[in-house]
Amino acid sequence: MELIKWTDNLSVGVKELDNEHKKLIDLLNHLYTGMKNREENKVIKSILDDLVNYTLSHFAHEEKYFKQYNYPKALEHIKEHENFRKEVTIFLGEFDTGKITLSSHMLNFLTNWVTNHIKKQDKEYVKFFIEKGLK
Ligand SMILES: [Fe+2]
Repeated sequence: MELIKWTDNLSVGVKELDNEHKKLIDLLNHLYTGMKNREENKVIKSILDDLVNYTLSHFAHEEKYFKQYNYPKALEHIKEHENFRKEVTIFLGEFDTGKITLSSHMLNFLTNWVTNHIKKQDKEYVKFFIEKGLK
């Protein structure tokens, strides 16, 4: 079962980053399936950890390019990543202590954040990176 699908309108023009976005979407779908199937918390937890770790390494990857090419909108973009890191850290902490479980609300938050971020902030670097010769 799929929650979201990667389509061309999510492309940022850099193959490597598109592939990472596809993997993020896979992990979100995986999480969705886990929730639908009412998997045990430890199963959900391991998918969540994968998702969060992968997201953070993906952010680091984008940020490495921002630095390398002196991307003019780097600061505001990194701020968005930071906000997400904070939100997710709080959520994971509460999940770990059993205060909350994975809800469709949380899943919606994650999905909306990822798709909106790709469509807005990530799309903004497309032209810049293409001009720098990234593909
Ligand atoms: Fe980003």
